[in-house]
Amino acid sequence: MRVPPVFVWDDPPMDLPHDLAELLEAAKTASRIAYCPYSKFHVGAAIRAGGHIFTGANVENASYGLTVCAERTAAFAAVLAGYVKIDAVAVACVDAPDGCDTGLLMPCGACRQVLAEFAAPDTPVVVDRVGILTMAELLPHAFKLK
Ligand code: THU
Repeated sequence: MRVPPVFVWDDPPMDLPHDLAELLEAAKTASRIAYCPYSKFHVGAAIRAGGHIFTGANVENASYGLTVCAERTAAFAAVLAGYVKIDAVAVACVDAPDGCDTGLLMPCGACRQVLAEFAAPDTPVVVDRVGILTMAELLPHAFKLK
């Protein structure tokens, strides 16, 4: 099923706003430091918060379930630097083949819930080769305690 992003990817994506293009580049660069000896699937994420860019990459574990995704390492970097309000997110699954199903490019459910903790419903999330979605499009009806 194709998601309905507010911006649909073009090849090349000519009209991606500059700040989001910069964030996406940071996500792609961060994917290089992923620790993914098991899946060999490098993922990078970048988060703009407090005027800074925080990056993350997936860190796998021999006990597979302990793996932490790129989006979460990036979100935790921002939060641990003192920024709990996320202004924009970019994610790049650089090893996914061109023309693959969008499912291979999208943030997983756990990461959506973690991002929703710190993002507003209209916070843009750039998904490489998919488009820009809002946080609420990515995770409608997020669980919230506040
Ligand atoms: N992965 C992410 O980093 N983010 C996601 O949203 C989905 C999956 C990572 C976890 C694992 O290291 C690899 O991709 C394959 O699942």
